[in-house]
Amino acid sequence: MKMEEPVIFLEGEKVILSPLDEDDLYPIQKILNSPDVRKNLAERFPKNRSMLKDLITLNKEKRGVFLKIVERESFKIAGIISLSDFNWPNRRAMLSIALGKDFQKKGYGTESTKILVDYGFKNLQLHKISLEVYEFNMGAIKMYESLGFVKEGHYRKHSFKDGKYVDLIFMSLLNE
Ligand SMILES: CC(C)(COP(=O)(O)OP(=O)(O)OC[C@H]1O[C@@H](n2cnc3c(N)ncnc32)[C@H](O)[C@@H]1OP(=O)(O)O)[C@@H](O)C(=O)NCCC(=O)NCCS
Repeated sequence: MKMEEPVIFLEGEKVILSPLDEDDLYPIQKILNSPDVRKNLAERFPKNRSMLKDLITLNKEKRGVFLKIVERESFKIAGIISLSDFNWPNRRAMLSIALGKDFQKKGYGTESTKILVDYGFKNLQLHKISLEVYEFNMGAIKMYESLGFVKEGHYRKHSFKDGKYVDLIFMSLLNE
């Protein structure tokens, strides 16, 4: 059965980026808590619904742009993408993205990131978009590089993940 038609905030050929709403919390919660996805993210504590509701509050207070990634073909929620930690005097923000396992490697990450970055540069007048990624997350690094992000910092043995210290890489894209 096809899901309810999503609200379009931004759209591409394969995905629709739609405002995060209370009804979306369960699928997003499933994605963010799943060990497969969580191993690549900084968060290590369980994410309950009230924590996810805080993301909706950030949207409301214009302190973040949190969007669900909807698969155009099925209208299923594939993941979440955001711009947050706005630093307005310096026109900077941080990007993050997570797709459910079933929705990975289909080009959704590339398209969603491209659309949101474009929105950030052209509509929020951001000058620089940054992100943090674990050194072992080669797929994500490759995707960010394909979109023009460059590695600009390398924090040695910065995070304790799955029993060992790993390096954290800082990447960014400039609007120039
Ligand atoms: C990382 C992530 C956002 C990438 O999105 P995606 O939709 O899976 O990636 P795409 O299909 O758009 O792939 C784009 C390119 O990235 C590379 N890539 C993506 N995932 C890869 C993987 N697991 N292994 C190897 N390469 C990968 C491929 O080179 C691909 O290029 P190609 O089409 O020429 O092969 C997504 O896999 C994800 O959410 N993973 C879990 C959470 C996460 O790691 N978030 C990022 C934290 S910084």
